[in-house]
Amino acid sequence: MQSIVVMGGRPLTGSVRVGGAKNSALKLMAASLLAAGVTTIRNVPDISDVALMAEVLAGLGAVVVRTDHALTIDATTLSSHEAPYELVAKMRASTSVLGSLVGRLRRAKVAMPGGCAIGSRKVDMHIRGLQDMGVRIEIGHGYISAEGRPHGANVILDFPSVGATENLLMAATTASGVTTIENAAREPEIGDLAAFLSEMGARIDGAGSTTITIEGVDELHPVDHAVIGDRIEAGTYLVAGAMCGGPVTVSGFDPSHIEMVLTKLAAAGAHLETGPDSVTVSLTGGVRPVDLATLPYPGFPTDMQAQFMALLSVADGNSVITENVFENRFMFADEIARMGADVRIEGHHALIRGVPQLSGAPVRSPDLRGGAALVLAGLVADGSTVVTDIHHIDRGYEGFVERLRSLGADVTRSGCDDGIPQEGD
Ligand code: UD1
Repeated sequence: MQSIVVMGGRPLTGSVRVGGAKNSALKLMAASLLAAGVTTIRNVPDISDVALMAEVLAGLGAVVVRTDHALTIDATTLSSHEAPYELVAKMRASTSVLGSLVGRLRRAKVAMPGGCAIGSRKVDMHIRGLQDMGVRIEIGHGYISAEGRPHGANVILDFPSVGATENLLMAATTASGVTTIENAAREPEIGDLAAFLSEMGARIDGAGSTTITIEGVDELHPVDHAVIGDRIEAGTYLVAGAMCGGPVTVSGFDPSHIEMVLTKLAAAGAHLETGPDSVTVSLTGGVRPVDLATLPYPGFPTDMQAQFMALLSVADGNSVITENVFENRFMFADEIARMGADVRIEGHHALIRGVPQLSGAPVRSPDLRGGAALVLAGLVADGSTVVTDIHHIDRGYEGFVERLRSLGADVTRSGCDDGIPQEGD
């Protein structure tokens, strides 16, 4: 089984550049189906989730070619409208073809994603929104079947769901009339999707705010677009730098996309210097305890929660992390406890009593971000930490081991992986 072996105690210094945002690239790939012709997407990370989404698109009849960090997607003719269970079960983000297939073909059949390691992740808002837009939905045999041209509607989301906002946005681009999405998610990746769709000829106003208005057009055209930098990947290396002293410079992303993360890093005692597309972090004199609560953007991202738990587990005092976005997103706590962290879970709160030193141990990645956070914990642990189930990490971090090594970490990859990729974030 493949694993990452970390020898703790090495300082990290230097620079690392992040790739394009996973959560944007996947949605832009889905959105490329909206236009007949060849779309080019640049700054696409080389991660297994992108390879899976390419398989989903190929299954629909698109021709996907990767050259280095660019993808060309020829969606001139689509031969299927079905995203099968085998693929959706591996990656929930494949449900984002629901909106683009309805937008392009006026029909879609997408497997229900089912439960998942980070809580029950429903699709009720996606479905209700499409129904509000006049799309006929049938659910049966584990599939969502959608049919009909959407019409303009006023859709109010119960919660600012990223996936629902994106699916409805895509479906609305070619709807008849004007659609308004209220209580929309405001994540930067939604801004990137809206920019991509607008370049394709969509008429979108208000992306990045809580109300998005889309005036439907008859058809969209292919474009050439570069994905925004990955704010979560950047945040992960910044936490690594803070845990191991730094200075570490992380570039290739927009620091305004992680303001809340930077605020919490500063509260933990980090010194930060922000440039136009980079942040330099250093932390000397011990980690201070911090309380934080995950919330939809611009709140603290749930995708940075585990990395902060690793950081705060060695703080000089007690911290509380409150998880408000997903149920059951504390599986990481059990693993880091095996390394000597003192974390108690009460409902959706984690109470963390900082310990002076973690001890290296064999641990298992519970999911993508939890896996990365275990490697960070290993960087400051006494002795060696062996992280298994690293296929989770490969879903979202290109060259994780290489990038950490370039900063001076003693990290290696060993063995061969027989793990089965599972859905997650
Ligand atoms: C996306 C991101 C993920 C991130 C999450 C929140 C991708 C591929 N993944 O996931 O990394 O952690 O946003 O920032 O972009 N919900 C419902 N009904 C719905 C839809 C969602 O109840 O119809 C609930 C979910 O169960 C969850 C919460 O809303 O508890 C947030 O989910 P959502 O914002 O939709 O996250 P994803 O789009 O799945």
